[in-house]
Amino acid sequence: MPSKPRVFISRVIPQHAIDLLNRDTDLELNQEDKPLTKGDLIRRIQGKEGLVCLITDTVDDEVLASNRLLKVVSNVAVGYDNIDVRSATEKGIMVTNTPGVLTDTTADLTWALVMATARRIVEADRYTRAGKFKEWSISMFLGHDVYGKTLGICGFGRIGRALAKRARGFDMKVLYTDVIRTDQEVERELGARFVDKDTLLRDSDFVTLHVPLIEDTVHYISERELNLMKPTAYLINASRGPVVHEGALVKALREKKIAGAGLDVYEHEPTLSPGLADLENVVLVPHIGSASIETRTKMAVTAARNCIAALKGERPPNLVNPDVLEEHPAP
Ligand code: DGY
Repeated sequence: MPSKPRVFISRVIPQHAIDLLNRDTDLELNQEDKPLTKGDLIRRIQGKEGLVCLITDTVDDEVLASNRLLKVVSNVAVGYDNIDVRSATEKGIMVTNTPGVLTDTTADLTWALVMATARRIVEADRYTRAGKFKEWSISMFLGHDVYGKTLGICGFGRIGRALAKRARGFDMKVLYTDVIRTDQEVERELGARFVDKDTLLRDSDFVTLHVPLIEDTVHYISERELNLMKPTAYLINASRGPVVHEGALVKALREKKIAGAGLDVYEHEPTLSPGLADLENVVLVPHIGSASIETRTKMAVTAARNCIAALKGERPPNLVNPDVLEEHPAP
């Protein structure tokens, strides 16, 4: 019987996915729930044909070049900016991700940030816990309404569209922007109108970010963009931290150029920019967009299936670099 392909999992993932991989591969797992150093990652992937990794692993050219046997890098995430895909393609290594399974969970978290910022939920919670709620007042913790307002969605992929669906229940006007306009059937169905980025920033009460992190989207929101927003508007980032110039955001929040922000991701994650955590008009959560038990399990299982398919010589369901198959066809 041919020996099973060898796979390394860089960090603990839900057991169901480990069981799947165990059935079809010769598995080695970093038992600790913390990222390996680059040196340790390189050391542990030697002799392996598959790597299942997380967004906290930087799988760059040096890592990819260190192991000639590597056939697939399977990321347990929809985003794959932690992997040098160009280098992987050049080396004939497949890269996969986990789209689809986390769409609604991430849209829910984005929505939670919309509500929490507009209605000052976290600030009010802190106040109540601190025993400061002595008497009701008509002007206590006044926020802004969400229903009936204008939502501006930047990046109209799966998650952006899922957000548009949620906005319908709140009778919101929905604007969106993206590099390409979506087909008009989808626009009609979701009640969303395509506008350019600057119009969206000027006209929206809530701006939510869902663009992938690529060269063109680094600092997609910077001082210029923040200055275009209404002073009563909120910025929500559930994509990747470097999409927002965090220093410019801190300044805009401090100077009340915008009303508030809700952040799931950070420019220098997990470090926060100086001053960010001191502000009351921002809600901060630690990159938990897809963090439900159900979804994290589905993500890990999807990554396991991608890895197994690739090692069986099949086209994995979520291949992000299909060019690899043309440039390096299976023998
Ligand atoms: C992703 O999938 O890209 C998230 O950021 C991690 O869950």
